[in-house]
Amino acid sequence: MGRAAHGADFLQLRIDDAPSGGRADWLARQLRLAIADGRLPVGSRLPATRVLAGELRVSRGVITEAYQRLGEDGHVVGRGRNGTVVVAAPAKARPAASPPPPPPGALFGTPPGTDIFDALRDAPARIDFSPGVPDLTAFPRTAWLRAERTVLRELSASAFGYGDPRGAPALRIAVADWLARNRGIRAAPGDVVIAAGTAQTLTLLGRVLHDDGLRTVAVEDPGSLGARQHLRNGGLDTPPVPVDADGIRVDQLRATDASAVLLTPAHQFPTGVVLGGERRRDLMRWATERDGLIIEDDYDAEHRYDRAPVPALRSLLAEHVCYAGSVSKLLAPALRIGWVFAPPKYRDALVAAKRFADLGNAVLPQLVLARLMESGALERQLRLLRGRHRRRRDAMIAAVGTHLPHAVVHGAAAGLHLTITFDAGFSDTDLAAAALARGVKVQPLSWHSQRPHRPGLVLGYAAPTATDIAEGMETLGETLRHLR
Ligand SMILES: Cc1ncc(COP(=O)(O)O)c(C=O)c1O
Repeated sequence: MGRAAHGADFLQLRIDDAPSGGRADWLARQLRLAIADGRLPVGSRLPATRVLAGELRVSRGVITEAYQRLGEDGHVVGRGRNGTVVVAAPAKARPAASPPPPPPGALFGTPPGTDIFDALRDAPARIDFSPGVPDLTAFPRTAWLRAERTVLRELSASAFGYGDPRGAPALRIAVADWLARNRGIRAAPGDVVIAAGTAQTLTLLGRVLHDDGLRTVAVEDPGSLGARQHLRNGGLDTPPVPVDADGIRVDQLRATDASAVLLTPAHQFPTGVVLGGERRRDLMRWATERDGLIIEDDYDAEHRYDRAPVPALRSLLAEHVCYAGSVSKLLAPALRIGWVFAPPKYRDALVAAKRFADLGNAVLPQLVLARLMESGALERQLRLLRGRHRRRRDAMIAAVGTHLPHAVVHGAAAGLHLTITFDAGFSDTDLAAAALARGVKVQPLSWHSQRPHRPGLVLGYAAPTATDIAEGMETLGETLRHLR
């Protein structure tokens, strides 16, 4: 049974605004907007056609035709005597908290708006230290091709139909095994949902939480700008919680009224710190006391260079942790394949959101990835990357010491980037702009902060070669001295 219907007044419909001759189209558009901005939430009933026709003084046929359009594009379904009920709202058009949502195509870590932001995102640079990508030249093309050939040879014709919106069963099994081996998580394949990367997981989860009445997800500060943008695009507020050398300040989290928090416990983005043992315990206490939700973004945890990575929080408190990971840092962001384990209370809604988003990820790449995971090829790839990334990290730390001797390097020996901070009489965005003019692209730390911080840079070291690292850091050092 749907919630109460609303009339023309509540929906602010004024038939005078409609072009004559296109009234059904106009009304369908207005109703889509009302669904998107929450005036007509999922589960609510559209006004009865007779009633709305009377209020707008149009024929009932106009209303019926508009409702039919909404039915065709999946916003509503007819439920007989219960009327016409809203079943889906498009995530893109949800009410946005300030700042405005990013433009379509904006990536993780790319704030829209000003020329320098756009230049730092789009301009090609001779040497690119943008964080977030592994060594893409190491993509295992031969192993992928071989696995794809095998999959194609063995695949039955029916497998080319629509897949399970939760993901291909073979991949869900392979992911559950992979995470048991590499992240200490015990999960049944039935709990895994395959999504188009963590970016989509956050969009889907944002919708699910919004529909559940949540309006706030606390985030780390500094913390990933991209992750924050995805949540805000779903109409969620993202109050900042400070991060120190032990990770998120749980005492400060308690001081917010948020009952959900997004964090990167294994390797905090961007500071690189690891959530300390006492903090982990305190976070667990927070989640149990507040019946809270922890969204664990495990984006690069497998890349730990000095010891085994800390186990995922999800391995300790499945009821309160929604775990998200992807192959973006293991293979390539271009694959757009990730996974999410939601607590039982959100699982069905998450699957529904995924189904409405795209009916499920493309099946063929999922099956190829499953093959790589099962055959051990992905573990071999990870070992190769770890060796290579570690050498590049060492090269970058050495170059910071030589060319930016006053900068402080933060974080554990892990991941694909490091963060430096420095004292300066100019902003980190000024430094990034000046470096870009000399052909070197770096990301200002301030992009990832909602509160004032020391200026700094987030430096991706996994993709550039050791020669580029040496040359780029030398240029960066010169640029810094020039600005001073
Ligand atoms: C903090 C953080 N989380 C997650 C991701 C990965 O997103 P996706 O899996 O959608 O590629 C990134 C990518 O840069 C990131 O920086």
